[in-house]
Amino acid sequence: MTNKPERIIIFDTTLRDGEQCPGATLNIDEKLAIAKQLARLGVDVIEAGFAFASPGDFEAVSKIAEIVGTEEGPVICSLARARHDDIKTAATAIKAAARGRIHTFIATSDIHLKYKLKKTKSEVLAIAEEMVAYAKSFTDDVEFSPEDAGRSDPEFVYQVLERAIAAGATTVNIPDTVGYTTPSEFGAIIKGIKDNVPNIDRAIISVHGHNDLGLAVANFLEAVKNGARQLECTINGIGERAGNAALEELVMALHVRRQYFNPFLGRPTDSEQALTNIDTRQIYKTSRLVSNLTGMLVQPNKAIVGANAFAHESGIHQDGVLKNKLTYEIMDAQLIGLTDNQIVLGKHSGRNAFRTRLKELGFELSETELNKAFVKFKEVADKKKEISDWDLEAIVNDEIQQA
Ligand code: KIV
Ligand code: ZN
Repeated sequence: MTNKPERIIIFDTTLRDGEQCPGATLNIDEKLAIAKQLARLGVDVIEAGFAFASPGDFEAVSKIAEIVGTEEGPVICSLARARHDDIKTAATAIKAAARGRIHTFIATSDIHLKYKLKKTKSEVLAIAEEMVAYAKSFTDDVEFSPEDAGRSDPEFVYQVLERAIAAGATTVNIPDTVGYTTPSEFGAIIKGIKDNVPNIDRAIISVHGHNDLGLAVANFLEAVKNGARQLECTINGIGERAGNAALEELVMALHVRRQYFNPFLGRPTDSEQALTNIDTRQIYKTSRLVSNLTGMLVQPNKAIVGANAFAHESGIHQDGVLKNKLTYEIMDAQLIGLTDNQIVLGKHSGRNAFRTRLKELGFELSETELNKAFVKFKEVADKKKEISDWDLEAIVNDEIQQA
C-alpha cells in the first residue's frame, strides 16, 4: 500500500473494536460471514480480531486470513499489544492472508503511563521502536498506534511516531481512545503530526476514534482535511462504550460532499472520482447483517441506515418529495442499497401522499370519495402511530361502501 493513496483507505474494525462492546460477541462462523460481506462492501483492510485475546479470536483471524484474505481481497489485520508474545501470535494468525498486517500499540498519555503501564516516556519510546521492528520481521505491513494520542503530549507523540516509522511502521494511527477531542482539536493534532514528524512522508496517517461525545465522525472529517488517509471505523458505529466512528456515515459524508473534500485530496473540486473504494450499494445489507448477528439494534433515527433515514412522515415533506426528491433528500436511498425512500402515512401526512399511496394500491377515487376518505384517514391516524396498507384499504372500502 503506497503512502500516497489515491483514495481514502477504509479500515474496518467491526470484528475487533466493534465486537468489544458489551453483548456483541460473535462466534467464528458469524465473524466469517461478516468478513465476507465486508469484502463485498469493498473495505481495504479488515481488522479481524485480537489474535492473542483468546483461542477463538486466534481461530477467527486465521480463518478470515485464509478465506477472505485472497490476492484481490482486503488486507487482513490482527491487533497486538507491544509485546513479543502478542505480536508473534498475530503474525501466525494472519499468515495465510495474501496481504497481512500487524497492528501494534502502546499508550502514550501521561494518565496511561502513570496508572496503567507504570512506565517512563523513554521506556515507552524504546518499546515502541523495538516492537515495531519485531512486527516488521514477520510482515512488511505494520501499523503502529500511540494509544490515547488524543490526550497525549503532542511532542511525545511526534517522537514515538518518528521512532516507529524509522523502525518500519508503514501506517501510523492516531487514536482518540476516549472520544475526548473536538473536531478542530483533532484536525490540529493531525496537522501537528504532518508538520513535526520528520519522516512522516514514509507512512500513511490513520485515525481511530470513539464516540463518547458523539464527535467521532466529525473529528475524522476534520482529520481528512488535515492529511489523514486511513479511517478506522465500524459498521453501525458499534464498539467500546459509545462506539467507534460509523463507516456508513463517513463513507456517505465523503461521497455526498465529495466536491467539498476533493481539494483536500489535491483533486479538482468537480472531480467525480470516488473518494473511497466502498460499493455504497452494499451498505444497508452490511448494516442489517451486523445488527442481526451482534444483536445490536440500530436506532431508527441513525444516520444513513436507521429505519427513518429515508422516511418522510409530514405532509409538507411528503408533498415536496413527491414533486422532487431533492427538496428533502440529500442522497438517493438506492445509493445505499435500498429500493426507494419511504413515505410513511401518519397523522402529519398530507393529501398528496395519501392519494399517491392509494393509487399505488390500485384505488382510483373521485375527488369527493378522496376527500371523505382523507377525513376518515386523519381520524384513524390520530389514534395510530403509523397507517398500514391494510388500514388504508379498510378506510377506502368503508367510504366506498357507504357512498
Ligand atoms: O481506541 C483505541 O485506542 C484502540 C487502539 C487499540 C487503536 O482501539
Ligand atoms: Zn478503539
